[in-house]
Amino acid sequence: MPVRARAHVYDMQPYRPGKTPEQLMQSLGLSELIKLSANENPLGASPRAKEALVNALDIIHRYPDGACSVLRDALSEFYGLPPDHFVFGNGSDELIHLFGVAYLEPGDGLMMGQPSFVRYEASAQLNQATLQAIPLTPDFRHDLEAMADAITARTKLLYIANPNNPTGTIVSRAELERFLERIPDHVLVILDEAYFEYVDHPDYPNGLDYVRAGRNVVVFRTFSKAYGLAGLRIGYAMGRPELLDPVERVREPFNVNTLAQVAAAAALSDQAHVARTRALNREGLNLFSTACERLGLRYVSSYANFLLIEGGERCAQVHQRLLERGILTRTGEVFGMPTYLRVNTGTPEQNARFVEALADALRE
Ligand SMILES: Cc1ncc(COP(=O)(O)O)c(C=O)c1O
Repeated sequence: MPVRARAHVYDMQPYRPGKTPEQLMQSLGLSELIKLSANENPLGASPRAKEALVNALDIIHRYPDGACSVLRDALSEFYGLPPDHFVFGNGSDELIHLFGVAYLEPGDGLMMGQPSFVRYEASAQLNQATLQAIPLTPDFRHDLEAMADAITARTKLLYIANPNNPTGTIVSRAELERFLERIPDHVLVILDEAYFEYVDHPDYPNGLDYVRAGRNVVVFRTFSKAYGLAGLRIGYAMGRPELLDPVERVREPFNVNTLAQVAAAAALSDQAHVARTRALNREGLNLFSTACERLGLRYVSSYANFLLIEGGERCAQVHQRLLERGILTRTGEVFGMPTYLRVNTGTPEQNARFVEALADALRE
């Protein structure tokens, strides 16, 4: 009999990476490609992080600090949260994986918005959990009432991406607090705040308030977006130590590499870079939304660093035409919205190029 992996693993889809920017440029004969498809920081990483990386090259023959002590202490001071309230991951992707492995028994429920970040679903599949995908409201926001109504005795992990990916929408403080009042003790609410640093809205809740209040809430944040370190892979979860302890037990000892730790600590110390990133994004979102209005395209008002634009039937064509003009965006197929295009903000020049190319692509 041939060797077989666990049966349910064959039901999972492997991650199929798209073509790299270099491969795309080669196949399309482009000399330049503007990548606006992965919600990355167009300013790159902080110069301080780059300098710290160069200095750290002398220690890469050693194993990493398995406790991420320097970064842990820096974050602890930054947030005024005890050091034992943090756990680190190889990107928040790994945290999603680890929380699933640590918490989910077969048949438990993992609840998420539909559409929301696709990796939550993979965590449910891997752990043979029941996916409880609750459609967003017609205005593309998490339907917290419907989510609370759908909780069962088996619901275990409940993800709210705030802002949500791919919609960029947020839940308000009042909505979240009403919702948390309805959450039974057997449910762990994970607020995935990957785009936290971008949000500029007085009603946006800071998930840490609920961690500090002792709720069954864990907050995820990442260095991949506003801090510009996506390629190094580092994210962190904040919560009461007893909620993080199961993850500490299942994670690999050296899951976060030395360069990621060093760069993240340096990036954290450069809040001016984060402020520049935020301001640039605000400008980009304004430009994109004004352009959509001018072009008669509907879009979802976003608080993150990307905009979801309705392209209708011709969406795939528009995506392709943009690509031929050297601009890579994301089609909504992966998250079940094939008539939408997701595009992140870039530098002012990149943004102007996108707007111009979009107008061209629609005209063709
Ligand atoms: C909502 C959300 N959570 C998590 C992630 C993963 O981020 P990381 O790079 O930290 O793994 C992303 C990345 O796009 C995201 O949009």
